[in-house]
Order: sequence, then structure tokens, then C-alpha cells
Amino acid sequence: MTDFEGKTALVTGGADGIGGAVVARLVAGGARVVSCDVKPQEPRKNVTTATVDVRDLAQLQAVVADLDRLDVVATCAGVQRYGTVEDTTEEAWDEVLDINLKGVYLTCKAAMPLLKARGGAIVVVSSVQAFASQTRVAAYTASKAALNGLVRSMALDHAADGVRANVVCPGSVDTPMLRWAADLWRGSRTQEEMIAEWGRSHPLGRVARASEVAEMVAFLAGDRASFVTGAEHLVDGGLLAQIPVVLPE
Ligand SMILES: NC(=O)c1ccc[n+]([C@@H]2O[C@H](COP(=O)([O-])OP(=O)(O)OC[C@H]3O[C@@H](n4cnc5c(N)ncnc54)[C@H](O)[C@@H]3O)[C@@H](O)[C@H]2O)c1
Repeated sequence: MTDFEGKTALVTGGADGIGGAVVARLVAGGARVVSCDVKPQEPRKNVTTATVDVRDLAQLQAVVADLDRLDVVATCAGVQRYGTVEDTTEEAWDEVLDINLKGVYLTCKAAMPLLKARGGAIVVVSSVQAFASQTRVAAYTASKAALNGLVRSMALDHAADGVRANVVCPGSVDTPMLRWAADLWRGSRTQEEMIAEWGRSHPLGRVARASEVAEMVAFLAGDRASFVTGAEHLVDGGLLAQIPVVLPE
């Protein structure tokens, strides 16, 4: 793969999960990648690691200041917290909105001057929760629905600058976040049984691999998607294609 030869990418949440898979896919395509995360990261070939909290504009700007070009920004940093509006604390609400939504605004704000210099692509990882929800995810769903609006806005504001912006909305993906959630909700099931059960709610019968989401991110980040901007892209194994009404056999 040479689709990112000579290109530089900035990935947030690059230490693990979907972000980690995006870093791997872009590097496999020839990119030089700056992987930003609050977590410590293992050294990887052609990857510069940076300890960055996406809630901190100065940290993001310092990372961008070290670059001589920027072609791709992929925002994958995110957190999940459970609760209704009644039992979500203000602290939890602020944490989710600050990381999942404001963190993307700050990342793009820091990156935009360099991204505009030669044109480029932003790919934001949102969720199916931007379109449909479940119980007890008030803050998370609000953050993801707002992200899709932010992406439309950036696509329009920066089309003339040659910057495309798209959003990827995954269903359940096997990552540390999903395994953490499985442990929270599994009751007497094992973690694997919980994940398999969530998988069965997707028509394809399983949860996604992080690499399957990374493949969509890479497509949207690359030149093959040169006329694609301001759009929402499901990677959900058919999850949102269904209504919960089943005909008897
Ligand atoms: N896993 C899923 O089922 C799923 C489904 C739909 C959407 N998503 C979204 O995909 C994105 C990635 O999720 P994941 O499953 O890979 O999660 P993950 O927890 O496995 O990885 C997220 C990464 O983001 C980093 N991070 C968290 N807060 C940060 C901060 N303030 N600054 C910088 N980095 C920070 C974490 O350290 C971690 O490495 C998230 O936005 C999540 O909401 C995940």
C-alpha cells in the first residue's frame, strides 16, 4: 500500500483501539504519523508519539508546531460514561463533552492552519449513537450527535481551502473501550459472552474489528475520496438498517 506515501497524519487516541488501528493503517500506507494520546505509547516505526490531552489547545498546538506539513487529521480519542440526565453528574457530563466534542474542535482548530496550507482531510470518529440511542448514554449520545453537526460545519467552512471533513459512525468495535463496557454490564456472563451478545444485535452477527473501522478512515483520508466531504459513513454491520420487528419463522 502506498496511498499515504509522503504524507503526514495526526491521529488522536492513537495509543489503542480504533485510533491504534488507524495509526497502523496509515503507516502501512506510507504515512508519517503523529500519534497523540493521554496514555503512554510503545514506540512504533514511522510514528512519533506525543502525550497530549485533547482538552488542551496549547498541547495540540505544540504538536502541530513541530510539523512541516499536515495532510490528514483523524480524531479517535473518546470516552464512554453511562447515565441518564438524572444520574449523570455534571463532572461526567463535562468529561464526556470535553473529550468527545470539544476535543475534536480543539484538535481541528490547532491543525487547520497547517492543513489549509496544501489541503487535506479530517476524519472524525463518531458513533451510531449520533443517529439512534439506547438507555443510559445521555452524555455520550449528545456528544456524538453534536460531532456529526460539527463535521458538516467544518466541511462547508473549509471546502474552499481544499480541506475535506467526514465522519465515521461505527457500531460496536472490539477495543479496550468495548471490553471495559462489557465488564461493566456482563453480570454473570463472561466478557466474551457479553461481546458475542452485542455482536448478535448487528445483522452481520459480530462486533467489528478496529481495523475494519480504520479501513473506512483511511479511504476518507486519502485521495480516492477526493469528492467526498461533509458526509456520514456507517461502519455498523447493518445495525441501523434494522427495526426491532421480527417476522415469525
Ligand atoms: N469501541 C466501540 O464500540 C465504539 C463504537 C462507536 C464509536 N466509538 C468511538 O471510537 C473512538 C475510539 O474508541 P475506542 O473504542 O478505540 O476507545 P479506546 O478507549 O479503546 O481508545 C480510545 C483512546 O483515546 C484515548 N483518550 C481518551 N481520552 C483522551 C484525551 N483526553 N486526550 C487524548 N487521548 C484520549 C485513550 O487513552 C485511548 O487510547 C471513540 O470516540 C469512541 O467513542 C467506539
